[in-house]
Amino acid sequence: MGAPFFGRLLHGGDYNPEQWLNFPEILEEDLRLFREAHINTVTLGVFSWSMLEPRDGEFTFDWLLEIMDRLHKAGISVILATPSGARPKWMADAWPEVLRVDAERRRALFGGRHNHCYTSPVYREKVRRIDTELARRAGEHPAVIAWHISNEFGGECHCPLCQQEFRRWLQKRYQDIGKLNEAWQTVFWSHVYDDFPQIESPSPIGENGLHGLKLDWKRFVTEQTVDFARAEIQALRDAGSRKPVTANLMYDFDGLDYRRFADVLDVISWDNYPSWHKKEERITALDTAVQHDYMRSLKRQPFLLMESCPAATNWQAVSKVKRPGMLLAASLQAVAHGSDSVLYFQMRQSRGSFEKFHGAVIDHWGGDSRVLQEVAETGRALECLSEVCGSGVRSDVALIMDRESRWAMQDAAGPRNENLRYMDLFLRLYGAVRAAGVNADILGEDQSLDGYRVVILPMVYMFKEGFAEKIRAFVSGGGTLVATYWNGVVNDTDNCWLGAAPHGLTDVLGLRSKELDALYDGDCNAAAPVLGNVPGFTHTYTCGTFCDVTELTTAVPVLAYTGDFYAGEAALAFNRFGDGTAWYAGALFEERLYQDLLRVVLRDAGVQTDARALFGGSGIPEGVSVTSRARGDVRYVFVQNFNRFAVRIPAELPQGAEVLYGSFRGKLEPLETLVVKFS
Ligand code: GLA
Ligand code: ZN
Repeated sequence: MGAPFFGRLLHGGDYNPEQWLNFPEILEEDLRLFREAHINTVTLGVFSWSMLEPRDGEFTFDWLLEIMDRLHKAGISVILATPSGARPKWMADAWPEVLRVDAERRRALFGGRHNHCYTSPVYREKVRRIDTELARRAGEHPAVIAWHISNEFGGECHCPLCQQEFRRWLQKRYQDIGKLNEAWQTVFWSHVYDDFPQIESPSPIGENGLHGLKLDWKRFVTEQTVDFARAEIQALRDAGSRKPVTANLMYDFDGLDYRRFADVLDVISWDNYPSWHKKEERITALDTAVQHDYMRSLKRQPFLLMESCPAATNWQAVSKVKRPGMLLAASLQAVAHGSDSVLYFQMRQSRGSFEKFHGAVIDHWGGDSRVLQEVAETGRALECLSEVCGSGVRSDVALIMDRESRWAMQDAAGPRNENLRYMDLFLRLYGAVRAAGVNADILGEDQSLDGYRVVILPMVYMFKEGFAEKIRAFVSGGGTLVATYWNGVVNDTDNCWLGAAPHGLTDVLGLRSKELDALYDGDCNAAAPVLGNVPGFTHTYTCGTFCDVTELTTAVPVLAYTGDFYAGEAALAFNRFGDGTAWYAGALFEERLYQDLLRVVLRDAGVQTDARALFGGSGIPEGVSVTSRARGDVRYVFVQNFNRFAVRIPAELPQGAEVLYGSFRGKLEPLETLVVKFS
């Protein structure tokens, strides 16, 4: 199924009228303010279970249907949520098995949210029943455009039911216990299992050092959660609904491998809550861009921004109010990276309980606030950009960021346990691509590399079966590879690959890694240009954290370490393999190296960007983001200034280009956005 097309960029967010049923005048006022704020979509029902089924099997849908009628009359669409993110008290009291058990084997009391067992047959049956009722009674309402499954899936349960499922899952995966013992290297510390029923999930008071077990447990938690989501979707389908489904994912969430959700959901959505103004906006913007690109790349289709905060959150250590212009810029950034929506949490600020101070479109004062005005401005911008809806993002560059590999790497107990600085490395490489105004996809190892010109492997510690072969084919077919230290170290079950590393790529890279030196924080080395180096580098770059010492076979050195016992050995090397090119960047370098390297790589790989037409030879100023979406021959180029100062746009509006949003007048103010359409 292709991406669902909503016809307009969605603008609105989570709305909880059930908190206001005793205030009819407020519900009335909401509709007026929604109009004022250019709201066209709300999400209903995310945590409404106790209002939809106040007693076991007793349903009250009238309030929901009435609200939906009124929203529909006002031209507002509804994303309808299944309420499984939190359950009513009657259920927990009657069936304690629905409550989660933590890793220390303590069962939770009723309370909070997201604390249910994904395995419990009772919970699954109750969820199926409420989802079925919801689909039958409200799913075909003309206001409904999509389903929102549960809320922010996450967490794990260690109850006896989950243990049983885990063992069954392992049995299916390994078939016999001998294979499992081998895969997990249980002979180490005498942890050999005789049979599957002996296996327990990892625990701080039990088995906590067996990496293979921990990795498989994380995989199981993902599979179990996906299976739960799949069951919810099946309930809706069995009840006759054909509406697209989504689930709201979270920022760089470590608890689940989101790749496994890609085939289950029709459209990916996610909740974006950056700490704007904590660091310079250009830094936060880059960090956020990674997440947008990651989410879009899960299906390589437009996604939805399901939640964002119109003002300030209430759960960050310090919740700073967004400065004027920030909401608009952050919202348009999502659209620039492929979102077909700007949705908020929440529409009206709740009166009591945990989120009473969380920012909302309508606050406790209830009037036409500064925030509401900026929401309205965002809504007008989205109306102006309406034709962008449904267009894709084309990328010539892919960076590999694989969750399973990251799980294994974090657990490695290797050369650095304090801080691997994985994200620092990733951001430097990603930032260097983006600084050239080039789009980037962020892929898991299982995704296809067809059509890319450049593939980047930042610390892809785990090479799963077949991954090295895919990279080999990519390079020999003419692609350009950029690899860093700590690639291809372990296999799928977290056992080290034997022989030369990076596994399967030593001839592609023309070298092998001999020793990986970990530096203390504050320690520093440098890499100086080798005389007559191919790309013509002249600068000496500082480096630290990791310095890989390699033995070159066919690769030629570009930079060489200046210090320590490996002074003179290659820090950056270059190789030709088949019709392609491979670079090996052996240390964590200062940012500038990645900028210089990617400039050469992108140029040699023939990667095009409309940024060149806009900024001419002078290049894109630092802190300015250029991203494009495309449909057929039409390209929408989003230019955003995330600096705290104005920047110049030197060139004339290129031929064949028109301004779709903003104004083209030779400069961009801080947080200003310009969208140029090329046909
Ligand atoms: C998450 C949840 C919402 C709300 C917001 C607050 O994203 O999905 O229900 O709690 O956080 O920021
Ligand atoms: Zn459980």
